Amino acid sequence: MYNLVFLGPPGAGKGSQAVRVSQRLGIPHISTGDMLRAAVKNETPIGLEAKAYMDRGELVPDEVVIGIVKERLSLSDAEGGYILDGFPRTLAQAEALSNVTKVTKAINIAVEDEKLVKRLSGRRVCMKCGYTGHLDYDPDEICPKCGDKLIQRDDDKPDTIRNRLAVYNKSTLPLIEYYQGLGVLEELDGYRSIDAVYIDVMRVLGVQ
Ligand code: AP5
Repeated sequence: MYNLVFLGPPGAGKGSQAVRVSQRLGIPHISTGDMLRAAVKNETPIGLEAKAYMDRGELVPDEVVIGIVKERLSLSDAEGGYILDGFPRTLAQAEALSNVTKVTKAINIAVEDEKLVKRLSGRRVCMKCGYTGHLDYDPDEICPKCGDKLIQRDDDKPDTIRNRLAVYNKSTLPLIEYYQGLGVLEELDGYRSIDAVYIDVMRVLGVQ
């Protein structure tokens, strides 16, 4: 069973890898960041509460995010496995997750902070189809999948990126030890090409 958690700092490539692994294994990619951005866009009560935290690069309160994830994991498409991207991010979230499901692998994609600022400042996303790109390979800022305009995420501005990295180092880094303790941790070097990291993810999952 592939009950997967993708760990790693902002910009490590969790989302980029999760999209590919989800397609390859046929299990849902559950990104709390994507779900929260959709809630903000649709101006739901959760979105209205989350927006200020996200704009500052702070974590949305545990009880809000835990509620969203529990509800999502209860849907039938997650019965045969899932990839959690961006959750858990605190010890309280990790413990809440352990109470509802057994994680079979936690894959930590590691990249140093200085390299992440460049990656994230150049990231461009498509609000229409969800594609994630980068100025390095999408210099015309047009989505290669659907042709819509690519935009910069509100929290991909340098000051907010630095705060997100600080929050990660304080609140989320301890989860590496948590999953090591559960005997399910795999650590990968994320500062290689997307293809090279993907091959490594498949290797640790034992997928040919
Ligand atoms: P979220 O959306 O989860 O953001 P994040 O963790 O900061 O992660 P990112 O999406 O920035 O990075 P990524 O690792 O997925 O990298 P990507 O593949 O896009 O969260 C946003 C906010 O929501 C949080 O700040 C918080 O407020 C809130 N939130 C979400 N979850 C929460 C939770 N559980 N609890 C509380 N609050 C929560 O890649 C980045 C860029 O690099 C792209 O341009 C990509 O093309 C490029 N790239 C990727 N891999 C490579 C590679 N190998 N080589 C070169 N370029 C690469």
